[in-house]
Amino acid sequence: MANVVLKNVCKSFETKKGYKEVVKNISFSCEDKEFIILVGPSGCGKSTTLRMIAGLEEVTQGEIYIDGQLVNDVPARSRDIAMVFQNYALYPHMNVFENMSFGLRLQNQPKKTIEKQVTEAAEILKIKDHLTKLPKDLSGGERQRVALGRAIVRKPKVFLFDEPLSNLDAEMRESMRADLRQLHAYLKATMIYVTHDQIEAMTMADRIVVLKSGEVHQFAEPLELYKNPCNRFVAGFIGNQRMNFFDGELKKKGTDIYFTNESVSLKTHTVHAPALKQCVGTKVTLGIRPENIYDKIYATNASAGNTLKAKINIMLPTGEYALLNLQTGNHKLIAKVNAYEKLAENKQIDIVMDMSKAHFFDTTSGKTVCHMADGHASCP
Ligand SMILES: Nc1ncnc2c1ncn2[C@@H]1O[C@H](COP(=O)(O)OP(=O)(O)OP(=O)(O)O)[C@@H](O)[C@H]1O
Ligand SMILES: [Mg+2]
Repeated sequence: MANVVLKNVCKSFETKKGYKEVVKNISFSCEDKEFIILVGPSGCGKSTTLRMIAGLEEVTQGEIYIDGQLVNDVPARSRDIAMVFQNYALYPHMNVFENMSFGLRLQNQPKKTIEKQVTEAAEILKIKDHLTKLPKDLSGGERQRVALGRAIVRKPKVFLFDEPLSNLDAEMRESMRADLRQLHAYLKATMIYVTHDQIEAMTMADRIVVLKSGEVHQFAEPLELYKNPCNRFVAGFIGNQRMNFFDGELKKKGTDIYFTNESVSLKTHTVHAPALKQCVGTKVTLGIRPENIYDKIYATNASAGNTLKAKINIMLPTGEYALLNLQTGNHKLIAKVNAYEKLAENKQIDIVMDMSKAHFFDTTSGKTVCHMADGHASCP
């Protein structure tokens, strides 16, 4: 197995309108046996980055190292990498065994070795009973397991995955996430995985590279991204329910600092004071996650400074919790509450913001000014 290092990697494509830079000076490293996920919106350059690592796309500028070796000029077939794609890319006329063993047969491996490796992989992936079936007779999840099996049997230095679960239904995706995590632990392999689904990234990765418009916005462990996003984009992108944002400014009232705008006046928490006092008078954006907003009836820390009146526009109950689409002054926001039996659409309620969990961003640059109380600084 091996580590993978990208140093100031750029990629431009020639288009009718000239050169278009789609990957801009990307640097990150994936340690040996690490599971790294590249996540970001559609078109941000995830697949292009992965394809450059695989050798399927040339690097315009910068360096890529695999296992300490500069591979910019090493052809794909000599990089000892296996790639799994969204569309499985199985040979339709070959059965599962033939599909899985294809690479080994090309290498003229002995028959016994091939049989041993395919059987072993089929066992790990729970597809032993399907070895004689054709791809058309398998479900989407089973086909993706065959594609994984074909990668595993080669015992490559590095596994690359490009949205391998996108074609599966929600339930299958969830169970495959756990299986892939388990597979990673079992194989002790270096894996780089691409997805636009932040939940997939949060649940599976050791570390996550957040990309936008061809640039790395943050590279950190999942919980770090959640607690300590380094800018407004990462804060809004990571999290099961989207973070609520309010634009406004900071004002001093006596010894306290308030976040205010035309609709709200919220007393900031003392843990944020050292960072916020330098921003008094400037435009800031307050970010608060739906899970840090409470119905006042169940809040233990309500005060005049953290309570707002809100109307429930829409209530989306799930059994376990409800998402409330709220209106407070000119703002729409979402709260996630656990007890909702007494709530109803169009009802007015008091909501309490846990201001210790608030994040503040510079409105102009989007950069984090300070983050939730138990986060800690790590931004580049
Ligand atoms: N061969 C190419 N020629 C020109 N432009 C390209 C080429 N391949 C990709 N692009 C452009 O590069 C940008 C990044 O593409 P890429 O496929 O890496 O995005 P992505 O992050 O994987 O998106 P998605 O989530 O939709 O798969 C896009 O704007 C795309 O149109
Ligand atoms: Mg892609």
